[in-house]
Amino acid sequence: MRSVRRLSTAPLDPRTRPATSQRLRHEPLRALLDGVELGTWALGPRSIDELVDTVRQLRPAAVLEFGSGCSTVALAWAMRDVPGAGTEPRIVSLEQDPTQAERTRGLLDRAGLADEVAVLHAPLARQLVEGRETECYEIPAAVERTLGGRRVDLVVIDGPAGPPGIRFATLPLARPFVRMGARFVLDDALRDGELEVARRWAALPWATVDGIRLIEKGLLTGSVRG
Ligand SMILES: C[S@@+](CC[C@H](N)C(=O)[O-])C[C@H]1O[C@@H](n2cnc3c(N)ncnc32)[C@H](O)[C@@H]1O
Repeated sequence: MRSVRRLSTAPLDPRTRPATSQRLRHEPLRALLDGVELGTWALGPRSIDELVDTVRQLRPAAVLEFGSGCSTVALAWAMRDVPGAGTEPRIVSLEQDPTQAERTRGLLDRAGLADEVAVLHAPLARQLVEGRETECYEIPAAVERTLGGRRVDLVVIDGPAGPPGIRFATLPLARPFVRMGARFVLDDALRDGELEVARRWAALPWATVDGIRLIEKGLLTGSVRG
């Protein structure tokens, strides 16, 4: 099994307690996420900054997210500066919990970004993924319809919520929608369950795990080779 190496030797940020949007680097995004708690269920502020940087660098044709919320607003805001908007949203965000899906739609509405994202309810179901039975998102047909043939350049994995290791299947489920070389990002990557997920992803013949950025809860990055 290949090992997962650290991308930075910088000390861990100990401030993993809830944060407000005031700690975000980008002023407009601070206003859009005003009053929302970051860093507990949501990505932390530094991780959101990283996500914005990633979008600006990659300029993705489409983004697929698993686990919606503040990160969805940040992705939508960053995508506003990426040319190529069409009639369909360029971000598809899958959410296991219908109440959280509604909350995310509310945040997007409030931010004036609702047209950038399709937030789709994707309930969890047991399924066979990479030879193992596991629980993960049931991918709705609306994903393919919304993407309309566009391939995904960035996959953001912050779900599902569940027992340790549950996020393993998320990357294989995303694979049919991605372009070769697509980047993926996993939050909470320093938890034991996610470290095991990272080891299992690193052993897949079609995925490369670069390592874990030591930011807040840990941001794993990698790419899909084929
Ligand atoms: C880590 S959270 C996703 C957070 C999201 N990416 C964000 O930055 O806000 C993973 C899942 O936990 C579930 N969840 C349960 N309680 C939640 C809460 N208070 N806030 C956000 N998600 C919650 C949702 O179904 C969500 O998709």
